Amino acid sequence: MNNAAIQFHDQQPDVSSLRDDVLRGLAAQPKAIAPKFFYDARGSELFDRICAQPEYYPTRTEIALLQRYADEIAQLAGADVQLIELGSGASKKVRALLDAMQPAAYVGIDISRDFLMQATHRLAQDYPWLEVHAACADFSRRLDLPRCQSGARKLAFYPGSSIGNFEPADAVRFLRQVREALLPDGALLIGVDRKKDVGVLEAAYNDAAGVTREFNLNLLVRMREELGARLDLDGFEHRAFYNNVAGRIEMHLVSRGRQCIEIDARRFEFVAGETVHTESSYKYSVEEFQHLARNAGFVPLQVWSDPRALFSVHFLGAAGRSAS
Ligand code: AVI
Repeated sequence: MNNAAIQFHDQQPDVSSLRDDVLRGLAAQPKAIAPKFFYDARGSELFDRICAQPEYYPTRTEIALLQRYADEIAQLAGADVQLIELGSGASKKVRALLDAMQPAAYVGIDISRDFLMQATHRLAQDYPWLEVHAACADFSRRLDLPRCQSGARKLAFYPGSSIGNFEPADAVRFLRQVREALLPDGALLIGVDRKKDVGVLEAAYNDAAGVTREFNLNLLVRMREELGARLDLDGFEHRAFYNNVAGRIEMHLVSRGRQCIEIDARRFEFVAGETVHTESSYKYSVEEFQHLARNAGFVPLQVWSDPRALFSVHFLGAAGRSAS
């Protein structure tokens, strides 16, 4: 095949519109908007900056784990593997695996077409021996894997603890779908943020430089710019806290006073202190996550964590393979 060439599969994601979701979310009680709307071009850039903040430990802890255990991961994955990255984004983390694993093929799947094309082109250039595929799809709704010429066994890679942004029941439903696509002998390598000291967790979502604040408020900027919403940006503040009962970080936009947001002819009233829930980020102990994975039909085969027990990377078998 042509070196630096990628095979593109357009699965035309059915992206539900910002307008419909915002109108529904602001009319709901309590008010809520799905976190997927954070990720326009500016939101994606802000998220990259969050990952580099000193308080946001998940990204660098996960990369260190992948680098440290790459050989072990490669051994578990076996030879002749198709490596499928879910939500590949900038495809940075997968680089920690490619040299050790030497997969036969790489498939990057992401909803953001431009991001995906740039990232997979760079990968194809840097790893000319690799068969590279890019699939533009909303894999959280439906996972159709493109056919590769090489690679007999499938290893899906879902880093970043993005699984934590699903409600737990939805996470099980999603993982069931992933498992089905990996049968008969595939596996899933997944990064999961662990439960820990509340101070460490809350600092990660309240960085001193205010990048997470800007990321959260960017939703209001999008409403104003893309939906023509009439709203007072300064009338809202960022709030992120750990909900100990639910085991999740919650992010909210909090109304500083009595006010309203107007979109088209609709008015959404806020009382002082009322919030829009914009994200949940569930944290799982190793045992809790293994239990969830088993509910989805996976067999936990290995887990790696860092000395501070901040983050975990799980290797889950799709079929009942034994850990030996
Ligand atoms: C993408 N996701 C796993 C991040 C998280 O930590 O839940 C999104 C994020 N929100 C605020 N900071 C980072």
